[in-house]
Amino acid sequence: MNIVKHKSEIVDLLQELKSKGKTIGFVPTMGALHRGHYELFRQAKKENDFLICSIFINPTQFSDAVEIDNYPKTLDQDIALLNKVKCDFLFIPEQKDLYSEQNIIEKSDLIDLNGLDLTLEGEVRPDHFKGVVFIVKTFFDIINADRAYFGKKDFQQLVIIKHMVNELNLNVQVIGCETVRNENGLALSSRNAKLAEEEIIEASFIYMVLKECKQKLKSLTVEASSSWVLDQFKNHASLTCEYFKIVDSRTLQPVTSLHENKSVVGCIAVKINNVRLIDNLVLSD
Ligand code: PAF
Repeated sequence: MNIVKHKSEIVDLLQELKSKGKTIGFVPTMGALHRGHYELFRQAKKENDFLICSIFINPTQFSDAVEIDNYPKTLDQDIALLNKVKCDFLFIPEQKDLYSEQNIIEKSDLIDLNGLDLTLEGEVRPDHFKGVVFIVKTFFDIINADRAYFGKKDFQQLVIIKHMVNELNLNVQVIGCETVRNENGLALSSRNAKLAEEEIIEASFIYMVLKECKQKLKSLTVEASSSWVLDQFKNHASLTCEYFKIVDSRTLQPVTSLHENKSVVGCIAVKINNVRLIDNLVLSD
């Protein structure tokens, strides 16, 4: 695997491949890679001639420096996993290659996100998605990939990136890959590295409740099912539910009934010992 640290170098390398008609699959990450990422890499590798992964902890999508410092960093393990999947290029840029002084301070409004960034995670993490959109667009400009792969665990992020690609008419296909779960159903996430073993077991309650909610919706209204979910967490000592919303999968706006909306997703954020976990489940499509 070729490890590249400079923007100009990766641009040259990838341009040469493109000029030979090779296809490029891109997986942007912030490192702390796990089996969920592995599946993205595998799919990207299968569908393209070359696979490139980026590792960059993007400062503008965090609300403070503590959050950035606390983000797990496991570069040696990450490189081992990328070698295992036969990744061709690992791009580890420096901040100055991606941000000018101006746009690191002001979170730019690249495009109108139609309110997609203001609901769910956006209510708890203001400006988070402006940071995500900025960095993903910056990577898309540098890498010029044919396909880019994102996990469905970050459902809102996936919807927003698809919207951005559509609005800006970018020539990259955005592919959402299924959430990978551990044996108890907990969605794999880099943040799980911050959990103790017993917390990992407790956190599998999140998926259990989501699945049960899907059953409840067969006999209860959307409102009653949502309240049922929230009640489950009120009775749980170590898990705090920040939000649970049943939303239209395109607009991310809350729905009042399943019948009016074709595709509906339940989105949840839960805190366990100060680690925020998000998950979602398609409740009707
Ligand atoms: O999902 C992530 O890891 C990040 O939000 C991304 C897409 C790499 C942008 O920093």
